[in-house]
Amino acid sequence: MTLRVTVIGTGYLGATHAVGMAELGYEVLGLDVDVEKVAALSAGRVPFYEPGLEELLAKHIGSGRLRFTTDFAEVGAFGDVHFVCVGTPQKKGEFAADMRYVDSAVESLAPHLHGPALVVGKSTVPVGSAGRLAERLEELAPADADAELAWNPEFLREGFAVKDTLHPDRLVFGVESGSAEARLREVYAPIIEAGTPVVVCDFATAELVKVSANAFLSTKISFINAMAEVCEAVGADVVRLSESLGHDERIGRKFLGAGLGFGGGCLPKDIRAFMARAGELGADQALTFLREVDAINMRRRSKMVDLAREQCGGGFLGRRVAVLGAAFKPDSDDIRDSPALNVAGQIQLQGGQVTVYDPKALDNARKMYPALSYAESPQEAAEGAHVVLHLTEWREFRELDPAAFGELVADRRILDGRNALDPELWRAAGWTYRALGRPNA
Ligand code: UDX
Repeated sequence: MTLRVTVIGTGYLGATHAVGMAELGYEVLGLDVDVEKVAALSAGRVPFYEPGLEELLAKHIGSGRLRFTTDFAEVGAFGDVHFVCVGTPQKKGEFAADMRYVDSAVESLAPHLHGPALVVGKSTVPVGSAGRLAERLEELAPADADAELAWNPEFLREGFAVKDTLHPDRLVFGVESGSAEARLREVYAPIIEAGTPVVVCDFATAELVKVSANAFLSTKISFINAMAEVCEAVGADVVRLSESLGHDERIGRKFLGAGLGFGGGCLPKDIRAFMARAGELGADQALTFLREVDAINMRRRSKMVDLAREQCGGGFLGRRVAVLGAAFKPDSDDIRDSPALNVAGQIQLQGGQVTVYDPKALDNARKMYPALSYAESPQEAAEGAHVVLHLTEWREFRELDPAAFGELVADRRILDGRNALDPELWRAAGWTYRALGRPNA
């Protein structure tokens, strides 16, 4: 009989996972407490931008293999394997992760389970949570449900979510029994048969893989951004530096992109929650370096504001600033902790007139930052601008013709916060081009 899979929480991770499971051939029921989200997904609409996801969602809604509900009883009755994919946002005013959605998902599901049921956590949680949730599950699930917990972290990147779900680099199974491992191997059989490595470990190690992967990636980015600060002090070029470092296979070229630094819904909050958790465990000294990683990252945003102010003649009053990019990275409409909007907001607060354009994230940006002005094209944003800031490296911006683009601006000055534009091209068209960590012309 085909496995029946449920996915609890249909945000970024859950919606993608539900579609991925349907693509693997399972009957899938997704649950969310948000009625509007369930209505949108049931109608084949993905409530955020992710390349390729909407097509696959429509395909599986059409095939009848994928449905959505708000009813935990229906989910409990339907599924053999239940994935918990709800969010763990940063708590207000502190670094720690807010576990209330994960706790509530497990508590709402448990009484409705029928056996044998495997509940699989995928959310990014403070290490130690799985052990606690396993006890809760045992308390609340009916005795004959034979309910078990497993931890199976998810590593998908926004913009590549479908690919990362169907063709992950690795699968990590945190389990306490052979039967849970066997169940997970069954669920992921098509992916494992394609050669994907599987690491089987205890709960705590599985939880740690996710946060330590994000800590490592953040550290790599802040490392190269620290080098950018030194480059700025000495007139060296961080782009050439990272290219050369990347040729060393032990270092690798990925995540050495110097610029405005990292943002989004994962890296910043995950390193902070990791530090908070290490503190609770008495291991805070082990992660003090992450404070520095965070600080380097935030300094890049201030540096961009300083550069923009300098280009505006020392102050923003009466100056128009065009901002290209609002999403935290290209191919996403996600603006959570977006470095681009943070810079735009700081300039606005200091008296600048900021107009923002983004190919996909404008609606989200308007809701979150209503005081900023928005434009429907890069050209409209740049009209009358004293300086243009390139803050999210969408392909559309790389393809701009600097000569034509310069026709409406007040001054041809561009600051490349992502080191993604070609300096020679822009300078040849009469622009003053400046970037983070690179020498002036
Ligand atoms: C990240 C992890 O990559 C993923 O494995 C995890 O599951 C969730 O968090 P995501 O948030 O989608 O994924 O974005 P990612 O592509 O990792 O980029 C994060 C941030 O780092 C972006 O703001 C990006 O602009 C920035 N970045 C990335 C750099 O500044 N330089 C780089 O070289 C790479």
